[in-house]
Amino acid sequence: MMQMDIAQNEFLKPYNSFGVAAEARYFMRVRREDELIQIFGNPDWEQQSKLVLGGGTNMLFVDNFNGLLLKMDIPGIRSTKNGLKVLVSAGAGVLWNDLVGYCVNHGFAGIENMALIPGTAGAAPVQNIGAYGVELMDVFDSCRAFDTHRKEMVSLKKADCGFAYRDSIFKHQEKNRYIVTEISLMLSLHPIIHSDYGAIQAELEARGISHPGIKDMAEVVSHIRLAKLPDPSTIGNAGSFFKNPIIPQVLFEELNRRFPEIVHYPAGEGLVKLAAGWLIEYCGWKGKRLGAVGTWKNQALVLVNHGGASGREIYQFSAAIMEDVKNTFGIQLEREVNVIGALD
Ligand code: EPU
Repeated sequence: MMQMDIAQNEFLKPYNSFGVAAEARYFMRVRREDELIQIFGNPDWEQQSKLVLGGGTNMLFVDNFNGLLLKMDIPGIRSTKNGLKVLVSAGAGVLWNDLVGYCVNHGFAGIENMALIPGTAGAAPVQNIGAYGVELMDVFDSCRAFDTHRKEMVSLKKADCGFAYRDSIFKHQEKNRYIVTEISLMLSLHPIIHSDYGAIQAELEARGISHPGIKDMAEVVSHIRLAKLPDPSTIGNAGSFFKNPIIPQVLFEELNRRFPEIVHYPAGEGLVKLAAGWLIEYCGWKGKRLGAVGTWKNQALVLVNHGGASGREIYQFSAAIMEDVKNTFGIQLEREVNVIGALD
């Protein structure tokens, strides 16, 4: 059997975009699918609790991880054209934005609005990443994954993945069961441009672009994100910390009477989505800082580590925001980031 390269007591600060200090008892880079088959077939490692990490851009470590951390590093992008469609496959370790760059450069349309989302391709289906009117599920075809129950590689089609807003089976029903090793997206050589989002329209206008191509869209989205969101390489953060809550229309109408300016969007039959950033800002948290933890000055939905914050401090800060939003609006915010570790 091939020698497995497993490190001990690995520092995780470089592996989580919040930049909090934590350690993994065991740590292994996974570069090929058969390494997963080996690990899960090895009696010494089988019983260890495991944590699968992509880019670590949506994780909050509130404690050390006392098990085997599998850092997904499977490389490679390939594409197959079929008429006006193209199937693009990427290894789980490919950086999502590198995949966007590859597709934009080749004229493969469909993910340009998701430019600059941090993280890896393999993590993208877990929370069904999305931005500026497009979600992964809109272009997702299938993925390959290691099934830790059956201990074999499986192929999952889009319908198997239970995608919803920032949600999938990988996060809920089948949490910890599948390890995504490759994703496949069905993209198009004939772009459909999604530019109705207000900030996008304004930026296109400012650039004098009336008929944007996918390159324009990726550039405009990147520009907006850079202006609005903190760069994780300089200020620790995990993008949106909470989900935008989806509530019944009747409840919304009641709230809207009390808060006429409440920012909201239709979310399907009888449902309304609220902008959590607005709720948080209304409660006075925008740009607020307690010690090393704060909310971002341009986007209250993003929690930041100004330097040296612990995972617990960030967690406690988020709990205070949740309590305030609950008391003010009666709405229970839900964390979008994955909290790793026990909290007592
Ligand atoms: N708003 C405020 N104050 C704030 C922030 C937002 O009033 O501090 C209000 C504004 O009215 C703004 C509206 O909320 O127009 C929506 O804000 P924004 O356009 O920034 O989008 P968001 O709903 O806060 C979502 C995603 C982002 C994604 C953007 C753009 C979630 C949880 N977040 O944010 O995704 O980039 O839309 O499509 O759905 C992420 O998931 O990590 C992420 C960054």
